Amino acid sequence: MNLNNKTLIIIGAAGRLGREIVGAALESGANIVAVDQSEQALQVLQAKQGNNKGFLAIEGDITQAASIQRVIAAAVAKFGSLDGAVNTAYPRNDNYGRSFFDVTYEDFCENLSLHLGGYFLFMQQCAKYAVETQARFSLVNMSSIYGVMAPRFEVYAGTPMTMPVEYAAIKSALQHLGSYVSAYTKGSKFRVNSVSPGGILAGQDQAFLDRYNNYCREKGMLEPKDIVGAILFLLSDASEFVVGQNFIIDDGFSL
Ligand SMILES: NC(=O)c1ccc[n+]([C@@H]2O[C@H](COP(=O)([O-])OP(=O)(O)OC[C@H]3O[C@@H](n4cnc5c(N)ncnc54)[C@H](O)[C@@H]3O)[C@@H](O)[C@H]2O)c1
Repeated sequence: MNLNNKTLIIIGAAGRLGREIVGAALESGANIVAVDQSEQALQVLQAKQGNNKGFLAIEGDITQAASIQRVIAAAVAKFGSLDGAVNTAYPRNDNYGRSFFDVTYEDFCENLSLHLGGYFLFMQQCAKYAVETQARFSLVNMSSIYGVMAPRFEVYAGTPMTMPVEYAAIKSALQHLGSYVSAYTKGSKFRVNSVSPGGILAGQDQAFLDRYNNYCREKGMLEPKDIVGAILFLLSDASEFVVGQNFIIDDGFSL
């Protein structure tokens, strides 16, 4: 995928999916502004890039408008333009991931504020930048198959994992917000789409993987590198008229 001369912000750049997206987008020729809340993790990313002139790492927080505005300004100051972004942040509080009956009202609301609220704010600020500068801008939000389908709770049986109720609310709402913002920004060159991966391999227990993989066609749970092709496509000019869509990448798990 050709991303030559494009400047892209990657939020959550130090995360499992973010690191892979940063590497693939750099290889496709883009200038990358890697943003994460974790300064320490960003330093590791920066060390890997050395003196790469097409790479800038900045600490940033999608729950703070001023922080997002600072990141956008830094991207434009360093590279002269801004053509798109990927939001792959995963904000959550310490109680995130509890079973349905154990989730308190406070934790439900806090996780929605951090995650859905942060994605709303980043989407709003990117759209504002694109509308005000009349720039062509492609935003990709990371959603999930669990924003589309009900959980298959049986795959988690006997493990400490579950599919958190907050996640279902956040990721489904995020897809609809993409439709809302696409409609609202009609007439501009701003577009937003989401990518919904199935589960990503991260050392899960084998019995769980076997149960999960049974629902898939070939590979089962995927690796971060299996997701990036769709993201690069959405960032590229090849998808110029793809707007407000959700791409599911799950080896057939949700079918
Ligand atoms: N891993 C999966 O199985 C999977 C599957 C489907 C969708 N997703 C989605 O993909 C995205 C990335 O997942 P991941 O597994 O790479 O997560 P991760 O936890 O490995 O990485 C997320 C990164 O976001 C950063 N972050 C958290 N809050 C932030 C904030 N307020 N501002 C800026 N950065 C912040 C963290 O420091 C971290 O580096 C998430 O939105 C997740 O819901 C993941």
